Amino acid sequence: MKPFRITLTVLAFAALASCSTGNDVERRIDKLLSKMTLEEKLGQMNQLSQGDEAWMCEQIRQGSVGSILNEVDPAAINRMQRVAVEESRLGIPLLPSRDVIHGFRTMFPIPLGQAATFDPDIIREGARIAAIEASACGIRWTFSPMIDIARDPRWGRIAEGFGEDTHLTSELGVAMIEGYQGDETSGNATMAACAKHFIGYGAAEGGRDYNGSPIPMRTLHNVYMPPFKAAVDAGAMTFMTSFNEIDGIPSTGNEYILRDILRDEWGFDGMVVSDWNSAGEMIAHGFAADDMDAAVKAVNAGVDMDMMSHTFIGTLAEAVREGKVSEKTIDEAVRNILRLKFRLGLFENPYVDEKYAAEIQYAPAHLAAAKKAAVESAILLKNDGKTLPLNSVRSILVTGPMADAPHDQLGTWSFDGEASHTVTPLASLRRMFGDKVRIVYYPALMYSRDKNKGNLARLTAMARSVDAVVAFVGEEAILSGEAHSLSDLNLKGAQSDLLRAAKASGRPVVAVVMAGRPLTIGRDLENCDAMLYSYHPGTMGGDAIAELLFGVEVPSGKAPATFLKDAGQAPFYYNHNNTGRPASGTETLIDEIPLCAGQTSLGCTSFYMDSGFGPLFPFGYGLSYTTFEYDGISIDKEEYGQNDTIHVTFTLRNTGDYDATEVAQLYVRDLVGSITRPIRELKGFQRITLKAGESRECTFDLPVEELAFMGFDNQTRVESGDFQLWVAGDSASGDPIPFRVL
Ligand code: BGC
Repeated sequence: MKPFRITLTVLAFAALASCSTGNDVERRIDKLLSKMTLEEKLGQMNQLSQGDEAWMCEQIRQGSVGSILNEVDPAAINRMQRVAVEESRLGIPLLPSRDVIHGFRTMFPIPLGQAATFDPDIIREGARIAAIEASACGIRWTFSPMIDIARDPRWGRIAEGFGEDTHLTSELGVAMIEGYQGDETSGNATMAACAKHFIGYGAAEGGRDYNGSPIPMRTLHNVYMPPFKAAVDAGAMTFMTSFNEIDGIPSTGNEYILRDILRDEWGFDGMVVSDWNSAGEMIAHGFAADDMDAAVKAVNAGVDMDMMSHTFIGTLAEAVREGKVSEKTIDEAVRNILRLKFRLGLFENPYVDEKYAAEIQYAPAHLAAAKKAAVESAILLKNDGKTLPLNSVRSILVTGPMADAPHDQLGTWSFDGEASHTVTPLASLRRMFGDKVRIVYYPALMYSRDKNKGNLARLTAMARSVDAVVAFVGEEAILSGEAHSLSDLNLKGAQSDLLRAAKASGRPVVAVVMAGRPLTIGRDLENCDAMLYSYHPGTMGGDAIAELLFGVEVPSGKAPATFLKDAGQAPFYYNHNNTGRPASGTETLIDEIPLCAGQTSLGCTSFYMDSGFGPLFPFGYGLSYTTFEYDGISIDKEEYGQNDTIHVTFTLRNTGDYDATEVAQLYVRDLVGSITRPIRELKGFQRITLKAGESRECTFDLPVEELAFMGFDNQTRVESGDFQLWVAGDSASGDPIPFRVL
């Protein structure tokens, strides 16, 4: 009898849903809440990871689970959902979730690689495809996008975000959210997005994962928060807290960010989940005394759902009875969770068609989009003597540990990507160009950490028998990602020696770097004629790289994070404030300092004696097979009111031999503020495709209100005064145009 009764309840909800407005949903939540026991409410606030299914089902039956994570088998998800819907007292559906970070089965480039595209459209499309593939398995919530600003490549999770810039991260984060969540036409192929990690996780001190983030309050507001505000405005359905503390307060217990900012100031009405055990970890932080204290602090701060610390389900009933948490607070949290489930249509359509997933995964359109993303994400860092594209070679030696590494080229967070579907560069080169070019393969190193130099002499000899060497180096997937920080960012193992051995042959050497972060590849640049930086390019990386190497495609990627000369420069980012003694570029470096030099502080500037001041390659940098020129950059006025829009015009000219795409970038500097301001900030970008020889009038429209920041009085507004503006192909080029805001 019981299942029948519940089914009727579900049907009643389904009928209601067909005319669902915000008010209807709130009424349905009220009705449901009024029937729930405290234990059932706490059950909704509990998220469990996949485990013994019989045990999980029993928890679900008792109403002790609101969401599951990490189950991807549609049949298993349906089985558990059936228990929730048909066998638990109130029949509230489960919310199945998973870290779908850069694709589900069809893997796109890692998010840092996607950021190098500066292309919101391909990122939106990639997220839509991920949602289609994952939701076909019943997954309706992904823990993505990660929109943490990352200014330190030692941090392994730099791979998982959009790099160092606030504006770029905001725009691309929004695109990803839109892709996952779809629109009204997306139906069940919608996944709730999760803006994470709120907040400051990417600023882990020393780049060491989970470390505290020493972020001053105004920097938090001006640099780290805008992508999250943009996520709220874009309708992100959920937020995740972060593992780090800021100024002594772990994010999972930070009422200021979770309530004052997120709910009260930004009006977020979605759901907040903790990070994995981050509530319980407040004990190790020394912020909570025990499980109950941790749960009380988290829920009072504004966390709605507990991911895997078990502290909510284990202690909150008693905490409510003891008056440490009000039932009103619990009701608010449960309301946020139920609202999400209603919005996703889970009450109406809790089950998934178990056969559909197999049909939709790796669909040709998905693979084509993944390839496009991989093409656009590759950054050409060096191309001496037009080594690339390989137009006139008859034979190549393919070498290096990443040439045929199907697992590793998928990168971090590839739980569901299958190496058996990966197209490696070696396979693509053979398939696409093997009939035109003789391809010799000799990896020399077996994996990226391989230190064995025994094969390198043979490599040099083999290289002498071909026209060019293409060396695939980089990082295995496991060398970046969560808890995979590094203090040394040079190529691992004997990979730099491999490049040296290739170079010793006298043949042109092309290095292709597949990595999870911008590595310190300065010394390697000396041992190659051309370098293509492709990050971990995903399932279709092989086809993308092969076509780039042979000029079927032209590189257009731009660095979303600064390339350092040396790890000791980290953290390093283009949009820093000036010191009182900015570097002039004429500093005396270590080898030029005379012996027994007397100490002086006169004329000293802010730089490193060994690595100078500048980066290896600045943010926004990337070459093409063609050349672009910016001309006639002008603005429509000299002075602007606070409500005006700055209209920027410029001519972009393709002065080379290839049809190609340039990412034009708009930067601004506020010369004097109530607090010091960055020496440049990205405020706009666009991909512009021009035929060889073509030129085009282009524009940027920049609303003056986008120059606002939190100033001395902690108010966010545009401060009047003098500004400069640049339009250029990277963050270190171009001439400033002055303007004034009244
Ligand atoms: C990560 C999150 C992730 C979660 C669930 C945590 O360790 O920090 O980003 O979503 O695990 O897998």
